[in-house]
Amino acid sequence: MRTDTGQVFRLEDYRPNDYLIPQTSLTFRLSPEATRVTAVLTIERRDGVAASAPLVLDGDGLTLLRVAIDGRDLAPADFLATPDLLTIVKPLAASRFQLVLETELAPARNEALMGLYRSSNVYCTQCEAEGFRRITYFLDRPDILSVYTVRIEAPRHEAPLLLSNGNPAGSGDLDEGWHYAVWHDPFPKPSYLFALVAGALGKLADSFTTMSGREVELGIYVEPGKEKLAGYAMDALKRSMRWDEEAFGREYDLDVFNIVAVSDFNMGAMENKGLNIFNDKYVLADEETATDADFANIEAIIAHEYFHNWTGNRITCRDWFQLCLKEGLTVFRDHEFSADQRSRAVKRIAEVRTLRAHQFPEDQGPLAHPVRPRRYREINNFYTATVYEKGSEVVRMIRTIVGAETFRAGMDLYFERHDGHAATIEDFIKVFEDVSGRDLSQFSLWYHQAGTPNLTISSTHSPASGEFTLEIEQSVPPTPSESRKRLMHIPLAFGLVGVDGKPVAYRGFEGASVENGVIHIRKRRHMVRFSGVAERPSLSLNRGFSAPVTLSVEQKADDQFFLAGHDSDAFSRWQAFNTLLTDALIAAFRQILGGEQPGFAARLTGLAGKIAGDETLEPAYRALALALPGEADIARDLGKNIDPDAIFEGREALARAIAGANREMFSELYDRLVDTDAFSPDAASAGRRALRNILLDYLSLLPKGAALAAWHFQSATNMTDRAAALTVLALRHSGSPEAVKALADFEAKYARDALVMDKWFQIQASVPGPRTVEAVRVLTGHPAFSMANPNRVRSLIGTFASANQTGFHRADGEGYRFFAETVLQVEKRNPQVAARLATALRSWRSLEPGRQAKAREALLSIANAENLSADLRDIVERTLA
Ligand code: ARG
Ligand code: ZN
Repeated sequence: MRTDTGQVFRLEDYRPNDYLIPQTSLTFRLSPEATRVTAVLTIERRDGVAASAPLVLDGDGLTLLRVAIDGRDLAPADFLATPDLLTIVKPLAASRFQLVLETELAPARNEALMGLYRSSNVYCTQCEAEGFRRITYFLDRPDILSVYTVRIEAPRHEAPLLLSNGNPAGSGDLDEGWHYAVWHDPFPKPSYLFALVAGALGKLADSFTTMSGREVELGIYVEPGKEKLAGYAMDALKRSMRWDEEAFGREYDLDVFNIVAVSDFNMGAMENKGLNIFNDKYVLADEETATDADFANIEAIIAHEYFHNWTGNRITCRDWFQLCLKEGLTVFRDHEFSADQRSRAVKRIAEVRTLRAHQFPEDQGPLAHPVRPRRYREINNFYTATVYEKGSEVVRMIRTIVGAETFRAGMDLYFERHDGHAATIEDFIKVFEDVSGRDLSQFSLWYHQAGTPNLTISSTHSPASGEFTLEIEQSVPPTPSESRKRLMHIPLAFGLVGVDGKPVAYRGFEGASVENGVIHIRKRRHMVRFSGVAERPSLSLNRGFSAPVTLSVEQKADDQFFLAGHDSDAFSRWQAFNTLLTDALIAAFRQILGGEQPGFAARLTGLAGKIAGDETLEPAYRALALALPGEADIARDLGKNIDPDAIFEGREALARAIAGANREMFSELYDRLVDTDAFSPDAASAGRRALRNILLDYLSLLPKGAALAAWHFQSATNMTDRAAALTVLALRHSGSPEAVKALADFEAKYARDALVMDKWFQIQASVPGPRTVEAVRVLTGHPAFSMANPNRVRSLIGTFASANQTGFHRADGEGYRFFAETVLQVEKRNPQVAARLATALRSWRSLEPGRQAKAREALLSIANAENLSADLRDIVERTLA
């Protein structure tokens, strides 16, 4: 494990390296404890660089066996090697030469899962961001593009399958039962896109004909026997390939495209050129083992990694500060894909819920950073919701501003201008300026400035003059190391809604530029006056969530109720109802703290019933509307002095009130939604299941609720329904005989299916209340649990710390103590996963004083541990700062 050197990397320090590596040839002789890597690098000094300039290559924990230049071993005085750096000091007369490096690795002992490692006896790699330097010394930075040829040698019986990037370029037998394969990737690529896989795997094969008629062989490799479980992923892959041709004109460029599923993986998946490597959780699925949410994730992540082939691989990043150039853009592309494959409105609501749940707290806490950060200590800690999700929102805003057609023209220009290069955010913005003729300099602050902007908006209508006036004020809160903020360009989509639900016409406007239903906010204050407005409209704001901002709006409850029933923009309609629910939950929180019983308006609980039963709305939309704001959402809206127990109590009370007010209607609808058709993972069927399962959640709060949930569990014919019922039993009826039995049945049935057991861990880690910390501690000793496997750790520990407000934030601090202990335990093996876990305490300052003090103690106990990794130290110190 690399301990922290305290080194800080700064955007302004970027400069190209003195050397280039146009060609890289690698030979791997695989062995679990002693893999030999021979790298033959063609090195070129850049024009104008002095021959005396040393060549400095990155390493990370490497053992160097040999170093030679143009066939001759270097004398000890000619180079300086440490595990983390190789410096060739000998003046290099030739401006182009061949450097040979031999290193030895122990993949079986690599528990950090970066570089070359073993997962269930399969050799695999993860090189992004800086894992390649754990394989050989290299200029391990994304602006060094190289053409790779890779030869892999291994015993045939252990590793019949040998894969790397690009196209196959030969294979054959060697002595003593060994064999080899050669792969050649004609596209120059940065080292972080290198990949190798070797082992015994099953294959699902298919093919795809590109728009220009080229045949591509597709393969998805999985644990032998699980080939059938890759069917949905394969289907998603082919739909992704077709969609990128249709939506962006992008065609696949190699003869083969391979995906490998491994069971030990730090992140979701990786877009290595022609050889994507996936966390098996995002490949394997059938109705028996995967939920509808799993299917949707698989579709989205298969698409995401495939789309990287153009946005990330063909055009990569100049340096890691530009990470959002590939990630934000590719998330935007996968969102659009899913919207086209499913329901656009439902997809948008789900995206915004995710953004608010993950990115907003990040942006509003100690870990806030711009979409394009200016400095980092550990780049792995910047694969964040801000870079990915807010990065995607920024791309979406560019499309809103320039319009869909011009946006497409800009993307075409981007591909044309930067194909084969390592680009920057400035390059990206420039193509849209060029095609639209607009000045996006103020807009580009979205990349450079952290924090969630707020808009304070009020409106007045004068029937006498027919004038409708909007007063808008923007502010951006201070964030770490950015106390003073500049004014942003915020595209705010809006609608003036009349009593019949139709748009209200206006004659003219002044005070801001308004185009196609979007107000362009550029100044601190705008008074936007619409003339010729006869009736007072209801104001629908931030339609489609056109900008990732928070709103402070003085709006009458009557207007919100009206919009919740009539807004023609589906997102804003959902938002109006969600705002009403949030307001009610905040009032309930205050009532509980004041020692009162919370009460809820009948028209609110009645509206919930109306939406549930509104057959003109998609079931998936109705299910989303009925999902109450989460405890963490309420905490975020409250902002400070959080008492998670009072939030929980208020939320429970509202759920009971809604269930009580709609019992007959919910029960009838629940019965009607029984699915008798054969299972299909499509969006419409999933939407019906989602609606029925959320109705179950409400009905379970009524008398005989546990029995109903137990029946739902037993009669379930797919994992979506089974897991939903188990969640209801475990969370709503914790400790009941029904819950105990269902948990035991589930465990017995799926004990040998690790991915399904993750759900079992996850559900138990989510049980609200003070007893869960003990239950989770006990579960760490379960035979299916392992501290070495990231999926297990995230399911049990990650869920407990990030998704269990009352359990984790137990008033006596026991949740925090357990958490600190566990983070340090995980860190010994896998610093990256530990650092990610540790972000669970990022909002500690918004807790009430008692919990705040205990959370701080836990953070300090991590910070004071010895030999902390760079990953964990960076997170903990920023969180405490
Ligand atoms: N580029 C991968 C993805 O799409 C993420 C890999 C990040 N890995 C890491 N170790 N930081 O989305
Ligand atoms: Zn990505």
